[in-house]
Amino acid sequence: MPSLSVEGVSKSFGSNSVLRSVSFSLKEGDILGIIGPNGAGKTTLLNIISGFLKPDCGKVALDWLDITKLKPHMIRRLGIVRSFQIPKLAKNLTVLENVLASLLFDASKADLSEAKDRCVKVLEQLGLKDHLYDYPTILPSAGLKKLELARILASNAKVALFDEVTAGLSDDERKIMLNLIRSFHTEQRILVIVDHVLPTIIDLCPRVIVLDKGSIIAEGRPDDVLSNKYVIESYVGEIKYAKAK
Ligand SMILES: Nc1ncnc2c1ncn2[C@@H]1O[C@H](COP(=O)(O)OP(=O)(O)O)[C@@H](O)[C@H]1O
Ligand SMILES: [Mg+2]
Repeated sequence: MPSLSVEGVSKSFGSNSVLRSVSFSLKEGDILGIIGPNGAGKTTLLNIISGFLKPDCGKVALDWLDITKLKPHMIRRLGIVRSFQIPKLAKNLTVLENVLASLLFDASKADLSEAKDRCVKVLEQLGLKDHLYDYPTILPSAGLKKLELARILASNAKVALFDEVTAGLSDDERKIMLNLIRSFHTEQRILVIVDHVLPTIIDLCPRVIVLDKGSIIAEGRPDDVLSNKYVIESYVGEIKYAKAK
């Protein structure tokens, strides 16, 4: 039964204390939203879970296995798949190859033609059908975001970490993405959704944590959390945006 736990994770860069004893745990089927102002530590937390950064103290465990010290490719092989807030794509691979390459990590090693069909289907659903054999450099920024998302949606992730995947998209594009994320979710998967676009979090996540200056300042159902006065104080602009929606 997949479970993900983050226990007392702290991280500083020099004198900048970016995460302060962050803890939470998730079980299979859970969808957790993480919100917080710019610089709150959200991406750093995803970097630590996916092994791209090591915490100063604390622990990350997947299915009770301590993964804190594992390298990113090992963590990916165990089934934790992430997207990057700033898309990280191989410029010398086509759009299709970029998605396919990330599937080579999957432990199940589905045969290549089945994996390719899955990639093509996901890219079509994301509206990238006409760009399968193009290089990603020709895509506009929304296209690059979709390609980042495709790498998760075509995978066999046990745990999927989404970092601002709907930022900068039109409302219609965002709705398509949300539907795809919803159909990707199963009772066996854990999703962690970091997003600045609060309607994305409200639509997708039954549970939310709020990070502010590296600490969890609130946790619970989106409605309750977003009416919490500390959250409003730390996050006032976006709250107004969410209520206007
Ligand atoms: N590799 C790094 N080196 C130094 N400082 C970093 C690094 N990564 C993030 N930071 C700092 O950590 C803080 C939190 O950043 P980040 O996790 O990206 O926040 P968020 O995703 O919530 O906007 C910021 O002050 C940022 O400048
Ligand atoms: Mg970030």
